[in-house]
Amino acid sequence: MDSLYSNDRGSNDSQEEQYEMRSDRAVTTDSSPFFNSSHYPESIGATALSIALIGPDEERRSAAVRAMAGTGGNDVREFSSYPASLDEVLKMLERHYDIVMMDLDSDPEHALELVENICANGSVTVMMYSEKAESDLLVRCMRAGAREFLNIPFDSNLVAEALVRAAARRPMVKVTKKAAGRLLTFIGAKGGSGVTTIACNFAVALAQDPNQKTLLIDLDLPLGDAALNLGITAEYSTINALQSTSRLDASFLSQLLVKHSSGVSVLAAPGKFIPYEASDEAIDRLFEVARQDFDNVVVDWGSRVDFSGTSVLKQATTIYLVTQAGIPELRNSNRLISQFFTGSGPRLEIVINRFEPRSLGVAEEHITKALTRPAQWKIPNDYPAVRKMQVNATPLALADSPISRLIKQMARAATGQSETTQTKKKGFSLFG
Ligand SMILES: Nc1ncnc2c1ncn2[C@@H]1O[C@H](COP(=O)(O)OP(=O)(O)OP(=O)(O)O)[C@@H](O)[C@H]1O
Ligand SMILES: [Mg+2]
Repeated sequence: MDSLYSNDRGSNDSQEEQYEMRSDRAVTTDSSPFFNSSHYPESIGATALSIALIGPDEERRSAAVRAMAGTGGNDVREFSSYPASLDEVLKMLERHYDIVMMDLDSDPEHALELVENICANGSVTVMMYSEKAESDLLVRCMRAGAREFLNIPFDSNLVAEALVRAAARRPMVKVTKKAAGRLLTFIGAKGGSGVTTIACNFAVALAQDPNQKTLLIDLDLPLGDAALNLGITAEYSTINALQSTSRLDASFLSQLLVKHSSGVSVLAAPGKFIPYEASDEAIDRLFEVARQDFDNVVVDWGSRVDFSGTSVLKQATTIYLVTQAGIPELRNSNRLISQFFTGSGPRLEIVINRFEPRSLGVAEEHITKALTRPAQWKIPNDYPAVRKMQVNATPLALADSPISRLIKQMARAATGQSETTQTKKKGFSLFG
């Protein structure tokens, strides 16, 4: 049997962004009487399915197109390569496909990672196709969230049945959901690495775009000092949000926030010491609500390294590991990366803070070795600039300095704004 399983599970919320689609050709398959309701009680019906067919291998992709050719007027859009990044996945999901059908064999590990990301961020039905009927691959596809596994050579009847199941899962009326925002989480390899400094300024840099709503959540409980860094005082705190998850929605959350003059909304840590252990479910709920309302949710996670219960690792758009080039920080970074960031998961970007290229400290090649990969960002050591920010309560990101330039660059990268896009724009600069 070609369709080895149908993994009919619940769906997750969708996440959307702008996306320039790389499409070879758009194929609209012919209508066919095959799907009339007398054959199939759960027939696809009047509305065609929109299908993203992702297949780097042209022969297998064409076979998939042929297998679907007799299944009604579906709109099949072909892609000759896998999405290269989570951002591309999110942009693809913005198109509200009913089905993503994907070649497993061209790069099984990457394909499985994509399936996980697609299923974590969208309500689309994922179908995998493969020439190999290996049970371990099948199980991994299922665990990643795929609902159908189709063997090549395709059996068009089985393909048709899989499409019927996908059509039945499709909501009767497509609700255009607002895109869930990016979750951009900053964690420290060690206390004092610079998480709060960088997260606050990164959020301020993001908030310079008037078209994007940015929220900074201080989750470094109970002693987080993001509000202090930004020179604001807050009446309510992250703990109020976490303690009220049963009534936490966008409107309730908005009442707990303070708006910084830069435009960034802040959910601060409490001003007083309140011993509090947040549950993983409460944190997940807070992220969910925050992402419904904000385009960017920046999190100061502090240096707590126990991610095991929360879905932050799974859900985060990007995790920024903030470290320094000292032995203890690099040692911690190495342990964290080996423990949490070796397989598929969120995008990890390493930020070396207080970096001094010509220092007598650890040589760059040793740093890269300890980090198991090159760091994406190196923020210079500039105590006078940081101190000035603290004294004047003016975020670095609002002034010009080597640190602020780098943080603005990080913010642009997080929103998919390339340097070239920036320079091409005339009269309007996204991040000042
Ligand atoms: N690039 C930098 N250059 C100079 N000083 C810096 C830099 N980044 C941070 N600092 C200073 O280092 C100290 C620690 O920074 P910060 O509070 O941001 O770290 P943290 O990781 O949030 O610490 P904690 O574990 O206490 O939450 C602060 O005094 C800050 O001003
Ligand atoms: Mg901090």
